[in-house]
Amino acid sequence: MSLHRYLPALLLSLGTGLVPVTAHEHHTEGIPEGEVVSPDPLDSILWIHIFTMITAFGMVFPFGMVLGIARSRWHVPVQVLGTVLAVLGWLLGHAHGGRQFAPNIHAAFASSLMSMLALQVGLGVYLKLHLEKGWHSVVRWHLVRLHGIVGKVMPVVSWTQMLFGGITALGFCRADHQGQCLAHFIMGSSFIGYGIIMVIMLFAGQAWLKRTARSQEFWDSLVITVWAPSLVTEHRWGQEWAHNDIQHTSMGVVWWCAGLLGLWLSRGKNKQPKRNLIPGIVIFLTGYAMSAHPQHLPLSTMVHSVFGYTLMAAGLARVIEIAFVLRDKPALDGEPNSFQHLTPFLLFASGLIFMCATEEQLALVSSAEIDHVSYLLVLYSVAFLMYLFTMVLIHIYVSNPRDAKQAPPAVLAERGMNGHVDRRVHDAEEFELEGLISEDEGEENKQESNP
Ligand code: HEM
Ligand code: HEM
Repeated sequence: MSLHRYLPALLLSLGTGLVPVTAHEHHTEGIPEGEVVSPDPLDSILWIHIFTMITAFGMVFPFGMVLGIARSRWHVPVQVLGTVLAVLGWLLGHAHGGRQFAPNIHAAFASSLMSMLALQVGLGVYLKLHLEKGWHSVVRWHLVRLHGIVGKVMPVVSWTQMLFGGITALGFCRADHQGQCLAHFIMGSSFIGYGIIMVIMLFAGQAWLKRTARSQEFWDSLVITVWAPSLVTEHRWGQEWAHNDIQHTSMGVVWWCAGLLGLWLSRGKNKQPKRNLIPGIVIFLTGYAMSAHPQHLPLSTMVHSVFGYTLMAAGLARVIEIAFVLRDKPALDGEPNSFQHLTPFLLFASGLIFMCATEEQLALVSSAEIDHVSYLLVLYSVAFLMYLFTMVLIHIYVSNPRDAKQAPPAVLAERGMNGHVDRRVHDAEEFELEGLISEDEGEENKQESNP
């Protein structure tokens, strides 16, 4: 049918056609000279924007993404709900009154994320049509991959846009503060990211690790070695050495040296993958350095110390886990031990504390007369919730009951070990598709393919 022929091109052009940046007027007349936000409070429209967007991009889409990877029939309804919320939040973002903002990165970056969403919806509608004959089969194969890749990148871009929202709302991270914000947000997010990868490896990554024929510490050490030069370059070469610069640079040096040893130790006598304690020791040393990092405000010194201690505890827990809980094995038989949650959770907590420890944030906390204990307890509470959310997502992925009912035994065996369906089996049998099509559509498809 001619409609079928042109439909993909039409949907894609709809999807990729950048979401129009609505030409609304940007009021900035209330912003005092030399400031970036007006003294007004945030109005209720902006508050609803914030809550709607955090719900859509921070919760509903990541949840739907996991359902998509698990080929659950709930993927489409959940992502449709997320899209409705996102469009609502987008309209509200443009309609707010109250506090006024100078041109900002959050407004500038919004269209990239909204365009990714439009692309996902466009691709998703095409995939849902299940056009699988003739050239559609080739196009579909590529588009499923594209939809999958963009879908997995979206949570990272959403996280960035939510951070941009926070700093825009408060008028933070401008001028001199920019470098510090970048350092705290990138480093803090990396610790949280490392925690997420660690907990995914714990519950769902063992088969992948086996296929790479390397130990987990090989990959950790590789990242440490490659990342080290970025710490050394934090000092602006040619300018005078500040005290903190010397610490950053020496940390880069220690990461590089330790990373090299970690790589060497991750192979056994017969070149088999071998565990080692180096990445754990690197986390510990980084925590030690951070706990003693010189600060201006007393509150800042306390928060940095607790950040450092949390990171040291994460490193220590990793060393104990590998040496005494796992006794150098890649994983325990059956469920992971409760102790194994400690390192990833502490990485979440330390990453979050570090992200919330810039000069401007701490000056705000201090001016509100909140002491470091209350502030740190709030941050720990958020870390608990984030860890809970991550565990819920992993649980959905590992134990998707719908697939389990339909999957052939070979796939179940693979899933038991890894939680992830083997791609080759998936491509050969395509049983998961049934999760996304209704019984009737399934019947229709069968009749079409057996005329
Ligand atoms: C609301 C519109 C959407 C529809 C109708 C839709 C539809 C689909 C369909 C039909 C599949 C299965 C593809 C197959 O046949 O194998 C799928 C998979 C998937 N979708 Fe969506 N989707 C939508 C939005 C999204 C969004 C917003 C995201 C990202 C946050 C997303 C992430 C994914 C992922 C990660 C997969 C798995 C792909 C893979 O395993 O490689 N989807 N989607
Ligand atoms: C990932 C989710 C989010 C998206 C896609 C998003 C998108 C948008 C868009 C499209 C605008 C209108 C920009 C313009 O005026 O041109 C906006 C405004 C705004 N958003 Fe968000 N937002 C998100 C999350 C947040 C969060 C979490 C916060 C705060 C914590 C926030 C705070 C703001 C503020 C303060 C404005 C007003 C900016 C201005 O008027 O220039 N947003 N947002």
